[in-house]
Amino acid sequence: MIAIRQERHADHDAREALLDRAYGDVRFTKTSQRLREDRLPSTGLSFVATEKGRVVGSVRLWDVSAGPSRPALLLGPLAVSPEHQCKGIGGKLMKHAIAAARMRGHGSILLVGDAPYYGRFGFSAEKTGLLWMPGPYQQDRLLALELRAGALDGARGMIGATGRLAPKPELGALVAAASNGAVKSPTPRAA
Ligand SMILES: CC(C)(COP(=O)(O)OP(=O)(O)OC[C@H]1O[C@@H](n2cnc3c(N)ncnc32)[C@H](O)[C@@H]1OP(=O)(O)O)[C@@H](O)C(=O)NCCC(=O)NCCS
Repeated sequence: MIAIRQERHADHDAREALLDRAYGDVRFTKTSQRLREDRLPSTGLSFVATEKGRVVGSVRLWDVSAGPSRPALLLGPLAVSPEHQCKGIGGKLMKHAIAAARMRGHGSILLVGDAPYYGRFGFSAEKTGLLWMPGPYQQDRLLALELRAGALDGARGMIGATGRLAPKPELGALVAAASNGAVKSPTPRAA
């Protein structure tokens, strides 16, 4: 049985392994990642899907601005472990994340992804034609869902990161962990 719950600190390694398997290294090169690196996800909007306590799916939402001064969320990455795909888990995660974002009073969600998949949750490129990402992407894959009618009316400009900055690891702690063998090599930052 699949359960959806808030992501916890202890999910870190399982989630990283899941993203590696679902996306490979390309996940670190995506323009969406530029809007996530060095930031924390939006408060209360990181979820995992579990089966028998094991993480099999993940989704996060991030605070951004859609143009100079319009708050929005950026969704991603969404991933389901390869052996659990096509069982409705991605859909459950999406519906849960959208409902939670709405409950927290957010006005809209942006993402870069496949319209044939995200269209089923109401995402489209209708309101994103005058928005752009800070790097390479395909414009027809920049999609949005309004949680509040008109939230993206007239949205225009660059999408920028506005989330809380992630605390930087303290150098002394990193050196101590490395000398204890806990750090093998510099690991890429969480997606
Ligand atoms: C995309 C992803 C999250 C979907 O999760 P999932 O649990 O398999 O999705 P669901 O079971 O809810 O939905 C499955 C349906 O979505 C369709 N689907 C899956 N990925 C799709 C895509 N990229 N484009 C169009 N349709 C897609 C499946 O064909 C299936 O269709 P059906 O309902 O008509 O049979 C998962 O396949 C995944 O992690 N993929 C690798 C990472 C990735 O590419 N993520 C971003 C996608 S833009």
